[in-house]
Amino acid sequence: MVLNNYHTAPSPLYILGIESSCDETSAAVLCDHLELSNIIASQELIHRYFGGVVPELASRAHQQKIVPVVEEALRVANITKNELHAVAVTSGPGLSGALHVGISFAKSLAFGLGIPLIGVNHMQGHALCHFIESKDHDEAKPDFPYLCLTVSGGHTQIVLVNEPTSMKILGETMDDAAGEAFDKAARLLGLPYPGGPLIDRYGAGGNPLRFKFPKPHMPGLNYSFSGLKTAFLYFIREGVSGDEGFIRNNLSDICASIQHSIVETLMHKLVEACGQTGIKNVCVAGGVSANSALRASLKDTAMAQNWKLHIPPFAYCTDNAAMIAMAGFFQYKEGQFSGMDLSPQVRMTI
Ligand code: KG4
Ligand code: ZN
Repeated sequence: MVLNNYHTAPSPLYILGIESSCDETSAAVLCDHLELSNIIASQELIHRYFGGVVPELASRAHQQKIVPVVEEALRVANITKNELHAVAVTSGPGLSGALHVGISFAKSLAFGLGIPLIGVNHMQGHALCHFIESKDHDEAKPDFPYLCLTVSGGHTQIVLVNEPTSMKILGETMDDAAGEAFDKAARLLGLPYPGGPLIDRYGAGGNPLRFKFPKPHMPGLNYSFSGLKTAFLYFIREGVSGDEGFIRNNLSDICASIQHSIVETLMHKLVEACGQTGIKNVCVAGGVSANSALRASLKDTAMAQNWKLHIPPFAYCTDNAAMIAMAGFFQYKEGQFSGMDLSPQVRMTI
């Protein structure tokens, strides 16, 4: 990271964000905090057949999509590339080949335009999505410090956000991510990828307490979902061996019960994190934040514990380039730019 204290930020600041860490090719333009465009090309259908993201297919799809997605982001924002002040791009964590596509493109564009390149940590982007404003969304922003529960198909973290560019991971998963736990459970039920939203849908109206699954015992604020996955596998095998129609006849209760288990685990550590830090500003981000049971539990707990809770619109929860441009905006203000040697950091931590 190049620290350049001599660079005074223009006002307003137009930043192009690029995100290609996993299976979404996204480009967005922000004018300071205001989203002018946020284009997302999802690869869901490409990976569905394989039941999960295939890295090589993801890289190829990013290569095909990156130019039209960036062009569309500029067109919708109604600006030309010459009006941009910086290009912010996800530099990690993520899939190596997928990150390479976004980074290479961002480098060339920034170099060609003679404007700064800003490498952004994807997880910091998630934790800062609450600061994006749009025509339809201008809600109160969280006060610092706050805790952000980031839950998606690739991540599960509780992050302490002291300032936009100063964060600390308080807890994270030691194995599967929460979204992965949803998706793997769904797969065992014969549901297509990504199965999280389907578990949510089929679980509606089901009895969340009918089937019990073991709770992980992880030290500190860390998570683990692999034990639950194995317990669920044996539970399904046993059920089906005694009754061929076990899944079909009990789908609603099974979905509600596994969902309840995952949500309880997530909430337990989040409540502990708030207790330990004394922080009552709480945010959530990542695709799993769309889950109805998690949202309900967050809202109930916020009432009971007197939290100030922020749940951003879904478009900013899932992987998107607006959050990368938002993080880039804060880094620009701090003079945190990247050099042309920026390269993917697959296991980048905050
Ligand atoms: O943030 P995201 O779009 O992509 C990354 O993984 O980075 O999150 C996708 C994950 C998937 O695992 C998907 O199953 C899960 O979020 N998800 C849900 C729901 N909507 C999306 N999980 C449970 N309930 C939902 N309603
Ligand atoms: Zn993500």
